[in-house]
Amino acid sequence: TEPAALVTELLAWYRRCGRDLPWRRTRDPYRIWLSEIMLQQTGVQAVQDYYRRFLERFPNLAALAAASLDEVLALWAGLGYYSRARNLHAAACQLVAEQQGCFPMEVEQLMQLPGIGRSTAGAIRSIAFDRPGPILDGNVRRVLCRLLALQLPPRSPAAERQLWHWAERLTPTAAAHDYAQAIMDLGALICRPRQPDCDRCPLAGHCHGRRLGLQQQLPLRSRR
Ligand code: ADE
Repeated sequence: TEPAALVTELLAWYRRCGRDLPWRRTRDPYRIWLSEIMLQQTGVQAVQDYYRRFLERFPNLAALAAASLDEVLALWAGLGYYSRARNLHAAACQLVAEQQGCFPMEVEQLMQLPGIGRSTAGAIRSIAFDRPGPILDGNVRRVLCRLLALQLPPRSPAAERQLWHWAERLTPTAAAHDYAQAIMDLGALICRPRQPDCDRCPLAGHCHGRRLGLQQQLPLRSRR
């Protein structure tokens, strides 16, 4: 598969069918970061109200760093995975104390912040700064397993290596912002966990999983 052709088709689809979500109307790294942390373990529908309320109370990094952890946790109540809120507050304090309240743009530096792993760092770099940052979250993992017909347990070291390799290969140097949103929307709207809608998929012609009739079987369920 030629990455450039595939990416062009994905971007054209996104411009027609992509979702209008609150964090797509900003390039503020603070807001993008908050959305990506909330979306790590929580779905788009549930996140939206929390996102709005959080930003009303803490409109910027300085406001968040100045707050008490208890107040941050109170606004997080109901979202779950509370270490996310603790890490958010700690990262805000760290950025204000050490980086003059500015977000770094590089993946390695983003990963120094609590709560930001490799995929979230790639998402922030792509979405906030429009620079290529590879993403391998749950959505992208599923899309790539099908696209490549990857017949390995998706969390195995061999699969991880291949998936990151492809995540990097596919991430375009131009249009990094739109590409990141596009591949997530493809995973959410078309290449869904169950019943993928291959008839509407802009990548169907490139998809090895589909060609082999394996789209329902992939990703392989990991035995644990
Ligand atoms: N899941 C993780 N990040 C996302 C984003 N920016 N838009 C939609 N779903 C997401």
